[in-house]
Amino acid sequence: MEFQSSRVKTVKSSPSMAVSVLAKKMLAQGEPVINLSLGEPDFNTPAHVIEAAHQAMLDGNNHYTAPNGYEVLRQAIVDKFARENDLNYGLDEICVANGAKQLLFNAFLATLEPGDEVITPAPYWVSYTDMVLLNGGVPKVIPCGSEYGFKLDAARLEAAITPKTRWLMLNSPNNPCGAIYTREEFAALGAVLQKHPRILVISDEIYEHIILGDKPFVPFVTACPGLRERTLLINGVSKAYAMTGYRLGYAAGPKELIVAMNKTQSQTTTCPSAISQLAAAAALSGPQDFVRDANREYQARGAMVVEGLAAIEGLELQMPEGAFYAFPKCSAFIGKRTPDGQVIESDTDLSSYLLQVGKVATVPGSAFGLEPYIRLSFATSRQQLEQAIVQMRDALALLA
Ligand SMILES: Cc1ncc(COP(=O)(O)O)c(C=O)c1O
Repeated sequence: MEFQSSRVKTVKSSPSMAVSVLAKKMLAQGEPVINLSLGEPDFNTPAHVIEAAHQAMLDGNNHYTAPNGYEVLRQAIVDKFARENDLNYGLDEICVANGAKQLLFNAFLATLEPGDEVITPAPYWVSYTDMVLLNGGVPKVIPCGSEYGFKLDAARLEAAITPKTRWLMLNSPNNPCGAIYTREEFAALGAVLQKHPRILVISDEIYEHIILGDKPFVPFVTACPGLRERTLLINGVSKAYAMTGYRLGYAAGPKELIVAMNKTQSQTTTCPSAISQLAAAAALSGPQDFVRDANREYQARGAMVVEGLAAIEGLELQMPEGAFYAFPKCSAFIGKRTPDGQVIESDTDLSSYLLQVGKVATVPGSAFGLEPYIRLSFATSRQQLEQAIVQMRDALALLA
């Protein structure tokens, strides 16, 4: 009996989830695994947000809402864009969904015709390309390794454009490599897109508040105001407020696109959880100390991890500028042998060796469309990070 459609057969389950599931299984069996594969903050959600969720339930907000959510939430999002980004959106240019992930899915479902191409610079967040495939599109991956500063430039964008191009995917700060685009770099991409009016842009800005150095975050639309009517700006409360379990993302974009995305949502999940909507409104409109404190902690951890990895011979690390990941290149280890004679043929082999022998869970760069790299998350305690680096160093030293 065949259960999978041809569309579903084109995609895999999320590889970062797979590593994390294996790491959890090893932990449950008593193995001392340090899990650096996770893409979520290790802090608890701020107390005032949890209280707002509780109050929302007590006040009777336990039912469906409209697909585009409560107005109080959309107003909090409009205010956030005005306050933090100096961007002015109307209530009807905002939509909300069960995480940024569902917004991306809704956008592709709403717009892609079979065979439409989506330009995706690699490394990219694991789900982009599979979501495109699930919606009949064709991911057009452009490798942007450390030799390109992990970024797409105007010439390579121009070369990738065809009459079938529908979307350009941008993600700054980037998961997994932490690169942040400057205003000038975005503007150069924008100048190319001005010549191609059919192309839409997704700017995934979910790591906006996790900034590790001096380079500021710039929203794509700030750098390219002329593309505002063709840009879908994606954000959410998962990373900024440690609210991954609430499943609440928000987007801003042209009205007709928002209408189309709300239409797909109305026929899939109806709306995001009413309780999460009101918790997110409290997070966006309430005190922002949590965001600042968490960022300070990520900065300290990032500096520690960078220093630790730099001391491991063979790993080549470009400083992450934002988000909470390090993404060292590991070509020096490819072709080496493990103590029991296995050849490390890829970053997937290296990642699984680090898990089995070093007891540290990482995600191979191939999951993000770029090899050979490994991603380590520093959304875990400093003590664990310190220990993980020692274990990685010792395990890597055994490869010959
Ligand atoms: C770049 C990027 N975009 C979107 C998401 C999805 O976030 P959400 O929890 O809002 O669905 C993630 C989560 O890891 C991410 O890393």
